[in-house]
Parts: sequence; C-alpha cells; structure tokens
Amino acid sequence: METDSSFTFVLFGGTGDLSMRKILPALFEAHRAGGMLADSGKIVAVARHAADRGEYIQWVNEHVKPHVSKNGVDETAWSSFLERIEFVKIDLGNPEDFALLRDAVKDLPGIRVFYLATGPSLFVPICRALASVGLNENARIVLEKPLGYDLKSSNAINDAVGEIFAEEQIYRIDHYLGKEPVQNLLALRFGNALFEPLWRREWVESIQITIAEELGVEARGDFYDNTGALRDMVQNHLLQLLSIVAMEPPHSMDSDSVRDEKLRVLRALKPIDPLNIGKVAVRGQYHSGVIRGTAVPAYATEPGVKPNSTTETFVALKVEIENWRWAGVPFFLRTGKRLADRVAEIVVNFRAVPHSALGVSALRAGANRLVIRLQPNETIRLYCLAKQPGEGMNLASVHLDLAFDQFFREGQMEAYQRLLLDVINGRLALFVRRDEQEAAWRWVEPILNEWKASNKPPKPYAAGTWGPAAASAMLAQHGTCWLEEEN
Ligand code: BG6
Repeated sequence: METDSSFTFVLFGGTGDLSMRKILPALFEAHRAGGMLADSGKIVAVARHAADRGEYIQWVNEHVKPHVSKNGVDETAWSSFLERIEFVKIDLGNPEDFALLRDAVKDLPGIRVFYLATGPSLFVPICRALASVGLNENARIVLEKPLGYDLKSSNAINDAVGEIFAEEQIYRIDHYLGKEPVQNLLALRFGNALFEPLWRREWVESIQITIAEELGVEARGDFYDNTGALRDMVQNHLLQLLSIVAMEPPHSMDSDSVRDEKLRVLRALKPIDPLNIGKVAVRGQYHSGVIRGTAVPAYATEPGVKPNSTTETFVALKVEIENWRWAGVPFFLRTGKRLADRVAEIVVNFRAVPHSALGVSALRAGANRLVIRLQPNETIRLYCLAKQPGEGMNLASVHLDLAFDQFFREGQMEAYQRLLLDVINGRLALFVRRDEQEAAWRWVEPILNEWKASNKPPKPYAAGTWGPAAASAMLAQHGTCWLEEEN
C-alpha cells in the first residue's frame, strides 16, 4: 500500500560523506522496499561540487551505489530511484543562490524537508538563507550532530535556528535512537510485566552500557581531534541510551511523553564532583597495536591529528541517577575507538538472591544478568543458574537467548532509513528535543572543563585492547568488572 505522505527532501551537503554512505542509501532502501515513500516524493540534492543534474547522477552512480544493498543492487529499483533526484547547484556562502532553490522546489509536492548534512557552522547561515526566500514555512529541518561544541555554542545554534523554525519543525538526529534494538528496549521494558517490576534499585545492582568500536578515526582526524570521545559519543549516544534504560514508563509513545521522561533522567544525573573526577571518569588514547591480526597506528600519528594531541579516544564513566528508582545504583558507561571488538550492549546486573539455600556457588557472578546487545547482532540474553546434570547440586550459568534476526527474518531497517521516514511522516519521538540536548551538555561540560583545567594527558591503551587499566580498576572498586566475555 502506498503512503500518501508526499515530500520534497532537500539534501544540503549532497556530495558529502554522510549523504554518500547513509542518507542516500537509506532513501534508496525505503524506495526499493516499496510503499514507504510516496511515488511523487522528490529528492533535491544541493551541492557545489557538481555542475548539473547529469554530473550529480554520475556521482551518485559512482559513489552511492557501492553503499546500497550489500547483496547486490536491484537495477530496476535503482533507475527509478534516480528519477526521484533533482539537483540544484548552490554556493552556500552566497545567500542569493537560495532563490534558485526556491524556484526549483516551488512546484514540487508535499511536505518540505531540509536535511543539513553539513558542518554545524553552516546550520545558521542555511536556515537564515531559507527564511530569506520564505522556505522555512511549513517545512521540517533536520540537524545532524555535532550540534555545537559545548552548551554555549549549542545554545547559540538552537537560538538562531529557533528564531526561524518552531521546535516541532526541528528534527535533531541521534542515529542511535533509530536503531531497531533501541526501539526494542522500549518494547522489552514497557510491554512485558516480567522485567519492569525488577527494573529498579531494589533488584538491580549495576548497569553497564558499552559502545566499543574497532575503527579508528578514519579520514576524520581533524574533526575528531577537536572533538574527542566525550563530545562525539557520550554527550549524545550514550546519554540517550542511558535515558531510555532508566526512564519511567511514559504515559504513551507520543513524542513528548517519551521525551519528557528521558529529560527527567538527564536532569537527575548526579553532577560530577571535580574533586572526585579521577574516581568516576577515565579518559584514554590509543597507541599502536594489533586488531584482528593487523597492525594499526597510534592515534597521534593519524592524518589530521596533532602529534602531541591530548584528545581522548576512550571514556569510561560511573554515573548515578538521583531519583527514587535508581538512587545508589552505578551506571557504568564506556566507549572507545580501536578497541578489541565492535560491540554495543547494555548489561543489567541483578542482585544476588538474599539468602542462598543452594550454597555459595549460587552466588557467583554469571547469573541474574540481562544482556541486551545492539550490535553487531541484535540479541537479548538472560543468564540464569541451573543445576548441572548428575549427582549433587552443582550449579552452572546458562542462558536464554533471543536472536532477533532469527525470529524476525524480514523487515529489518537501518537506523537512517527509520529516522528519515519519521521525518517525512512527521514523527518526532526519535529525535532529540532541545531541552534534552541542553541537559546532556550541562552534565557533560564540567567533565570537559575539569579535564582541560587539569592538563593531564589521557591514559594510553594499546589498540586492540579494552582500554586503559584504570577503566577496569574503576569497576573493581565496586566489586565488579566489565563484561567483555559476552563478545
Ligand atoms: C557517530 C560518531 O556519531 O557514531 C562516530 O561520530 C562513530 O565517531 C559512530 O564511529 C558510531 O556509530 P555506529 O552506528 O557505527 O555504532
């Protein structure tokens, strides 16, 4: 069945890396699947680096096609996808050029979406230029991260964009919110009476959230060196995951009910005490090492990175939430580049039974744990204790597994595809509201300030390991350890 949400999707940064790897492939997948995009919907790419539509289409064929459908491209769908694409050559530094865009879209149907896949320094000039030709009215604007460098710069962008677009027209992307397993976390928590009663301090001892990457900084050394892992991953992806894990059940799934509850968590984060920072925050930087048998260079020698850089490529944090549900429960967050494995997962460690009639072995670690893996594969694993067969009551840790790709063989969607469809259909729940973003910056900023003031270099770790030893020591103080054996 075809959707009737017609649209004109204007893509700024039409020849950029994000358009090439994520946005255009996601739009193609939605087109190929059929019924998700209105037939009349158009994509208008805006770029400087192509002379005309013909040259742009050639670029799409050469650069985007290799990123679509890993199992081969459906050529018929590909040609009909290309027919959706229009092109406007605009010099973003020249606001008069926007009259060209206005003329190009004036007769195109449906809701207008302006996707800013550009650097954040262009967000405000583009919004102002759109307003100067009246294109802000009844439109939706999509802002990519990073949205600012700190609270002040993010507020400056939000203020300026907010003068032109109302909050309900603004879609701030955090692609982790578009990942299927993150949606499933909501289903798991709020659709099953089994888990929610246990999802609180009385039954949960600690929670870990890890986003580990094998990749280094790739071609983004310059950007990354001015950003670091705390801004790149913690301020957004990790705090968003944390807020979904810890939020109260919302009244409904409408966008503001969900976002109100996430905001309450972000506002309840215990502020980091600068005097105590060494105990609750670890920053690291990778040195050379070996990943899956291949030698990889040190961060400081990557192109675009300053040789004496003190930018962190790894962060581990102990976070607490000051509310009735979570008081005293540590949330351990960690993320890093060039780690031993690519994995993103949430580990909920439940408390041991209050009294073990089965002997001390029943109290050992390895049971009473729920592991929700977001990637590379989507699984939920519940560890329990069971009796080993044979004589005597010898216990072993066993697990119940739910592998989503086996259960649901079809219909998997990439994060960007889901999020783009949500923008086109006007669904805001998976986008970050301004107050959430501000609360996240407010919590993160004292850590950034303290690290800067202390002038201490990050702790080194060899590429291909799980980060600096200090990250393990932090958990050892709480009688626990990172759960890497799951990988
Ligand atoms: C991006 C960060 O937001 O997320 C990158 O800027 C990081 O540095 C990426 O590599 C990780 O996303 P994913 O979906 O590959 O886990």
